[in-house]
Amino acid sequence: MTVDAPRRQHVAAPAQACLPRHVAIIMDGNGRWARQRNLPRVVGHQRGVEAVRRAVKAASALGVEILTIYSFSAENWSRPIDEVSELMSLLKRFIRSDLQELHASGVQIRIIGERLSLDPDIAALLDEAETLTRNNSRLKLVVAFNYGGRQELVEAARILARRVAAGTLDPAAITADMLAEGLHTHDIGDPDMVIRTSGEQRLSNFLLWQSAYSEFVFLPVLWPDFDQTWFETALAEYASRERRFGGVSSKAGM
Ligand code: IPE
Ligand code: IPE
Ligand code: MG
Repeated sequence: MTVDAPRRQHVAAPAQACLPRHVAIIMDGNGRWARQRNLPRVVGHQRGVEAVRRAVKAASALGVEILTIYSFSAENWSRPIDEVSELMSLLKRFIRSDLQELHASGVQIRIIGERLSLDPDIAALLDEAETLTRNNSRLKLVVAFNYGGRQELVEAARILARRVAAGTLDPAAITADMLAEGLHTHDIGDPDMVIRTSGEQRLSNFLLWQSAYSEFVFLPVLWPDFDQTWFETALAEYASRERRFGGVSSKAGM
């Protein structure tokens, strides 16, 4: 689809009651943003980092408690080596340049995704960011890096399978909560809203389990152009939705 020059209306942020506690964003469209300008894809990723800064500030200003951002998927390793290297390097540069400021503004950083196969210097930076900010409470920023929803579910299944094999767990006693305990998000909770930018309408292996009852908002903006006004547009859309969780509409007649 064409996502040039999207039009948007400025809408006031919704009242607190309709505000999602946890917003997750699939930050998509960096490559197309660059291509539209005849620039290398990596320039789109570099500009995408500025959009991350705006999104974090907006989440904090608008009263969102948890912001999860999809930064690198388990499948993104299949991109050209130069692009993968730049994405790794951008994460390192972002943590090095922004960690102190994020910490000072009360942001608690959490990383989800597979960490063992990352370069040791990246893994060390991720550990440092989590450790430094662990007592902050203004905004929880969850970075999904080298993350895959299916891979995460497989890991969680293995944890239960080991207990069954050891004879300490009856398969018939397995519950959804027990499986969720084995996910990287076990202490984070489910996103109320999942936003995807760039007009694509798919999950791309993001939070498969956790988004079972999330509201999906697809925005026609390429990620490097995302800003607080787009965040407010998504919040207004969320506020207009009715979440039923399998029940009946609260507005339904008898
Ligand atoms: C999102 O932008 C960033 C990552 C996936 C790391 P893309 O790089 O996917 O941008 P498009 O989809 O090619 O425009
Ligand atoms: C999803 O975007 C991953 C991230 C935003 C980090 P992709 O651009 O990789 O997804 P597909 O390939 O279009 O589904
Ligand atoms: Mg993409």
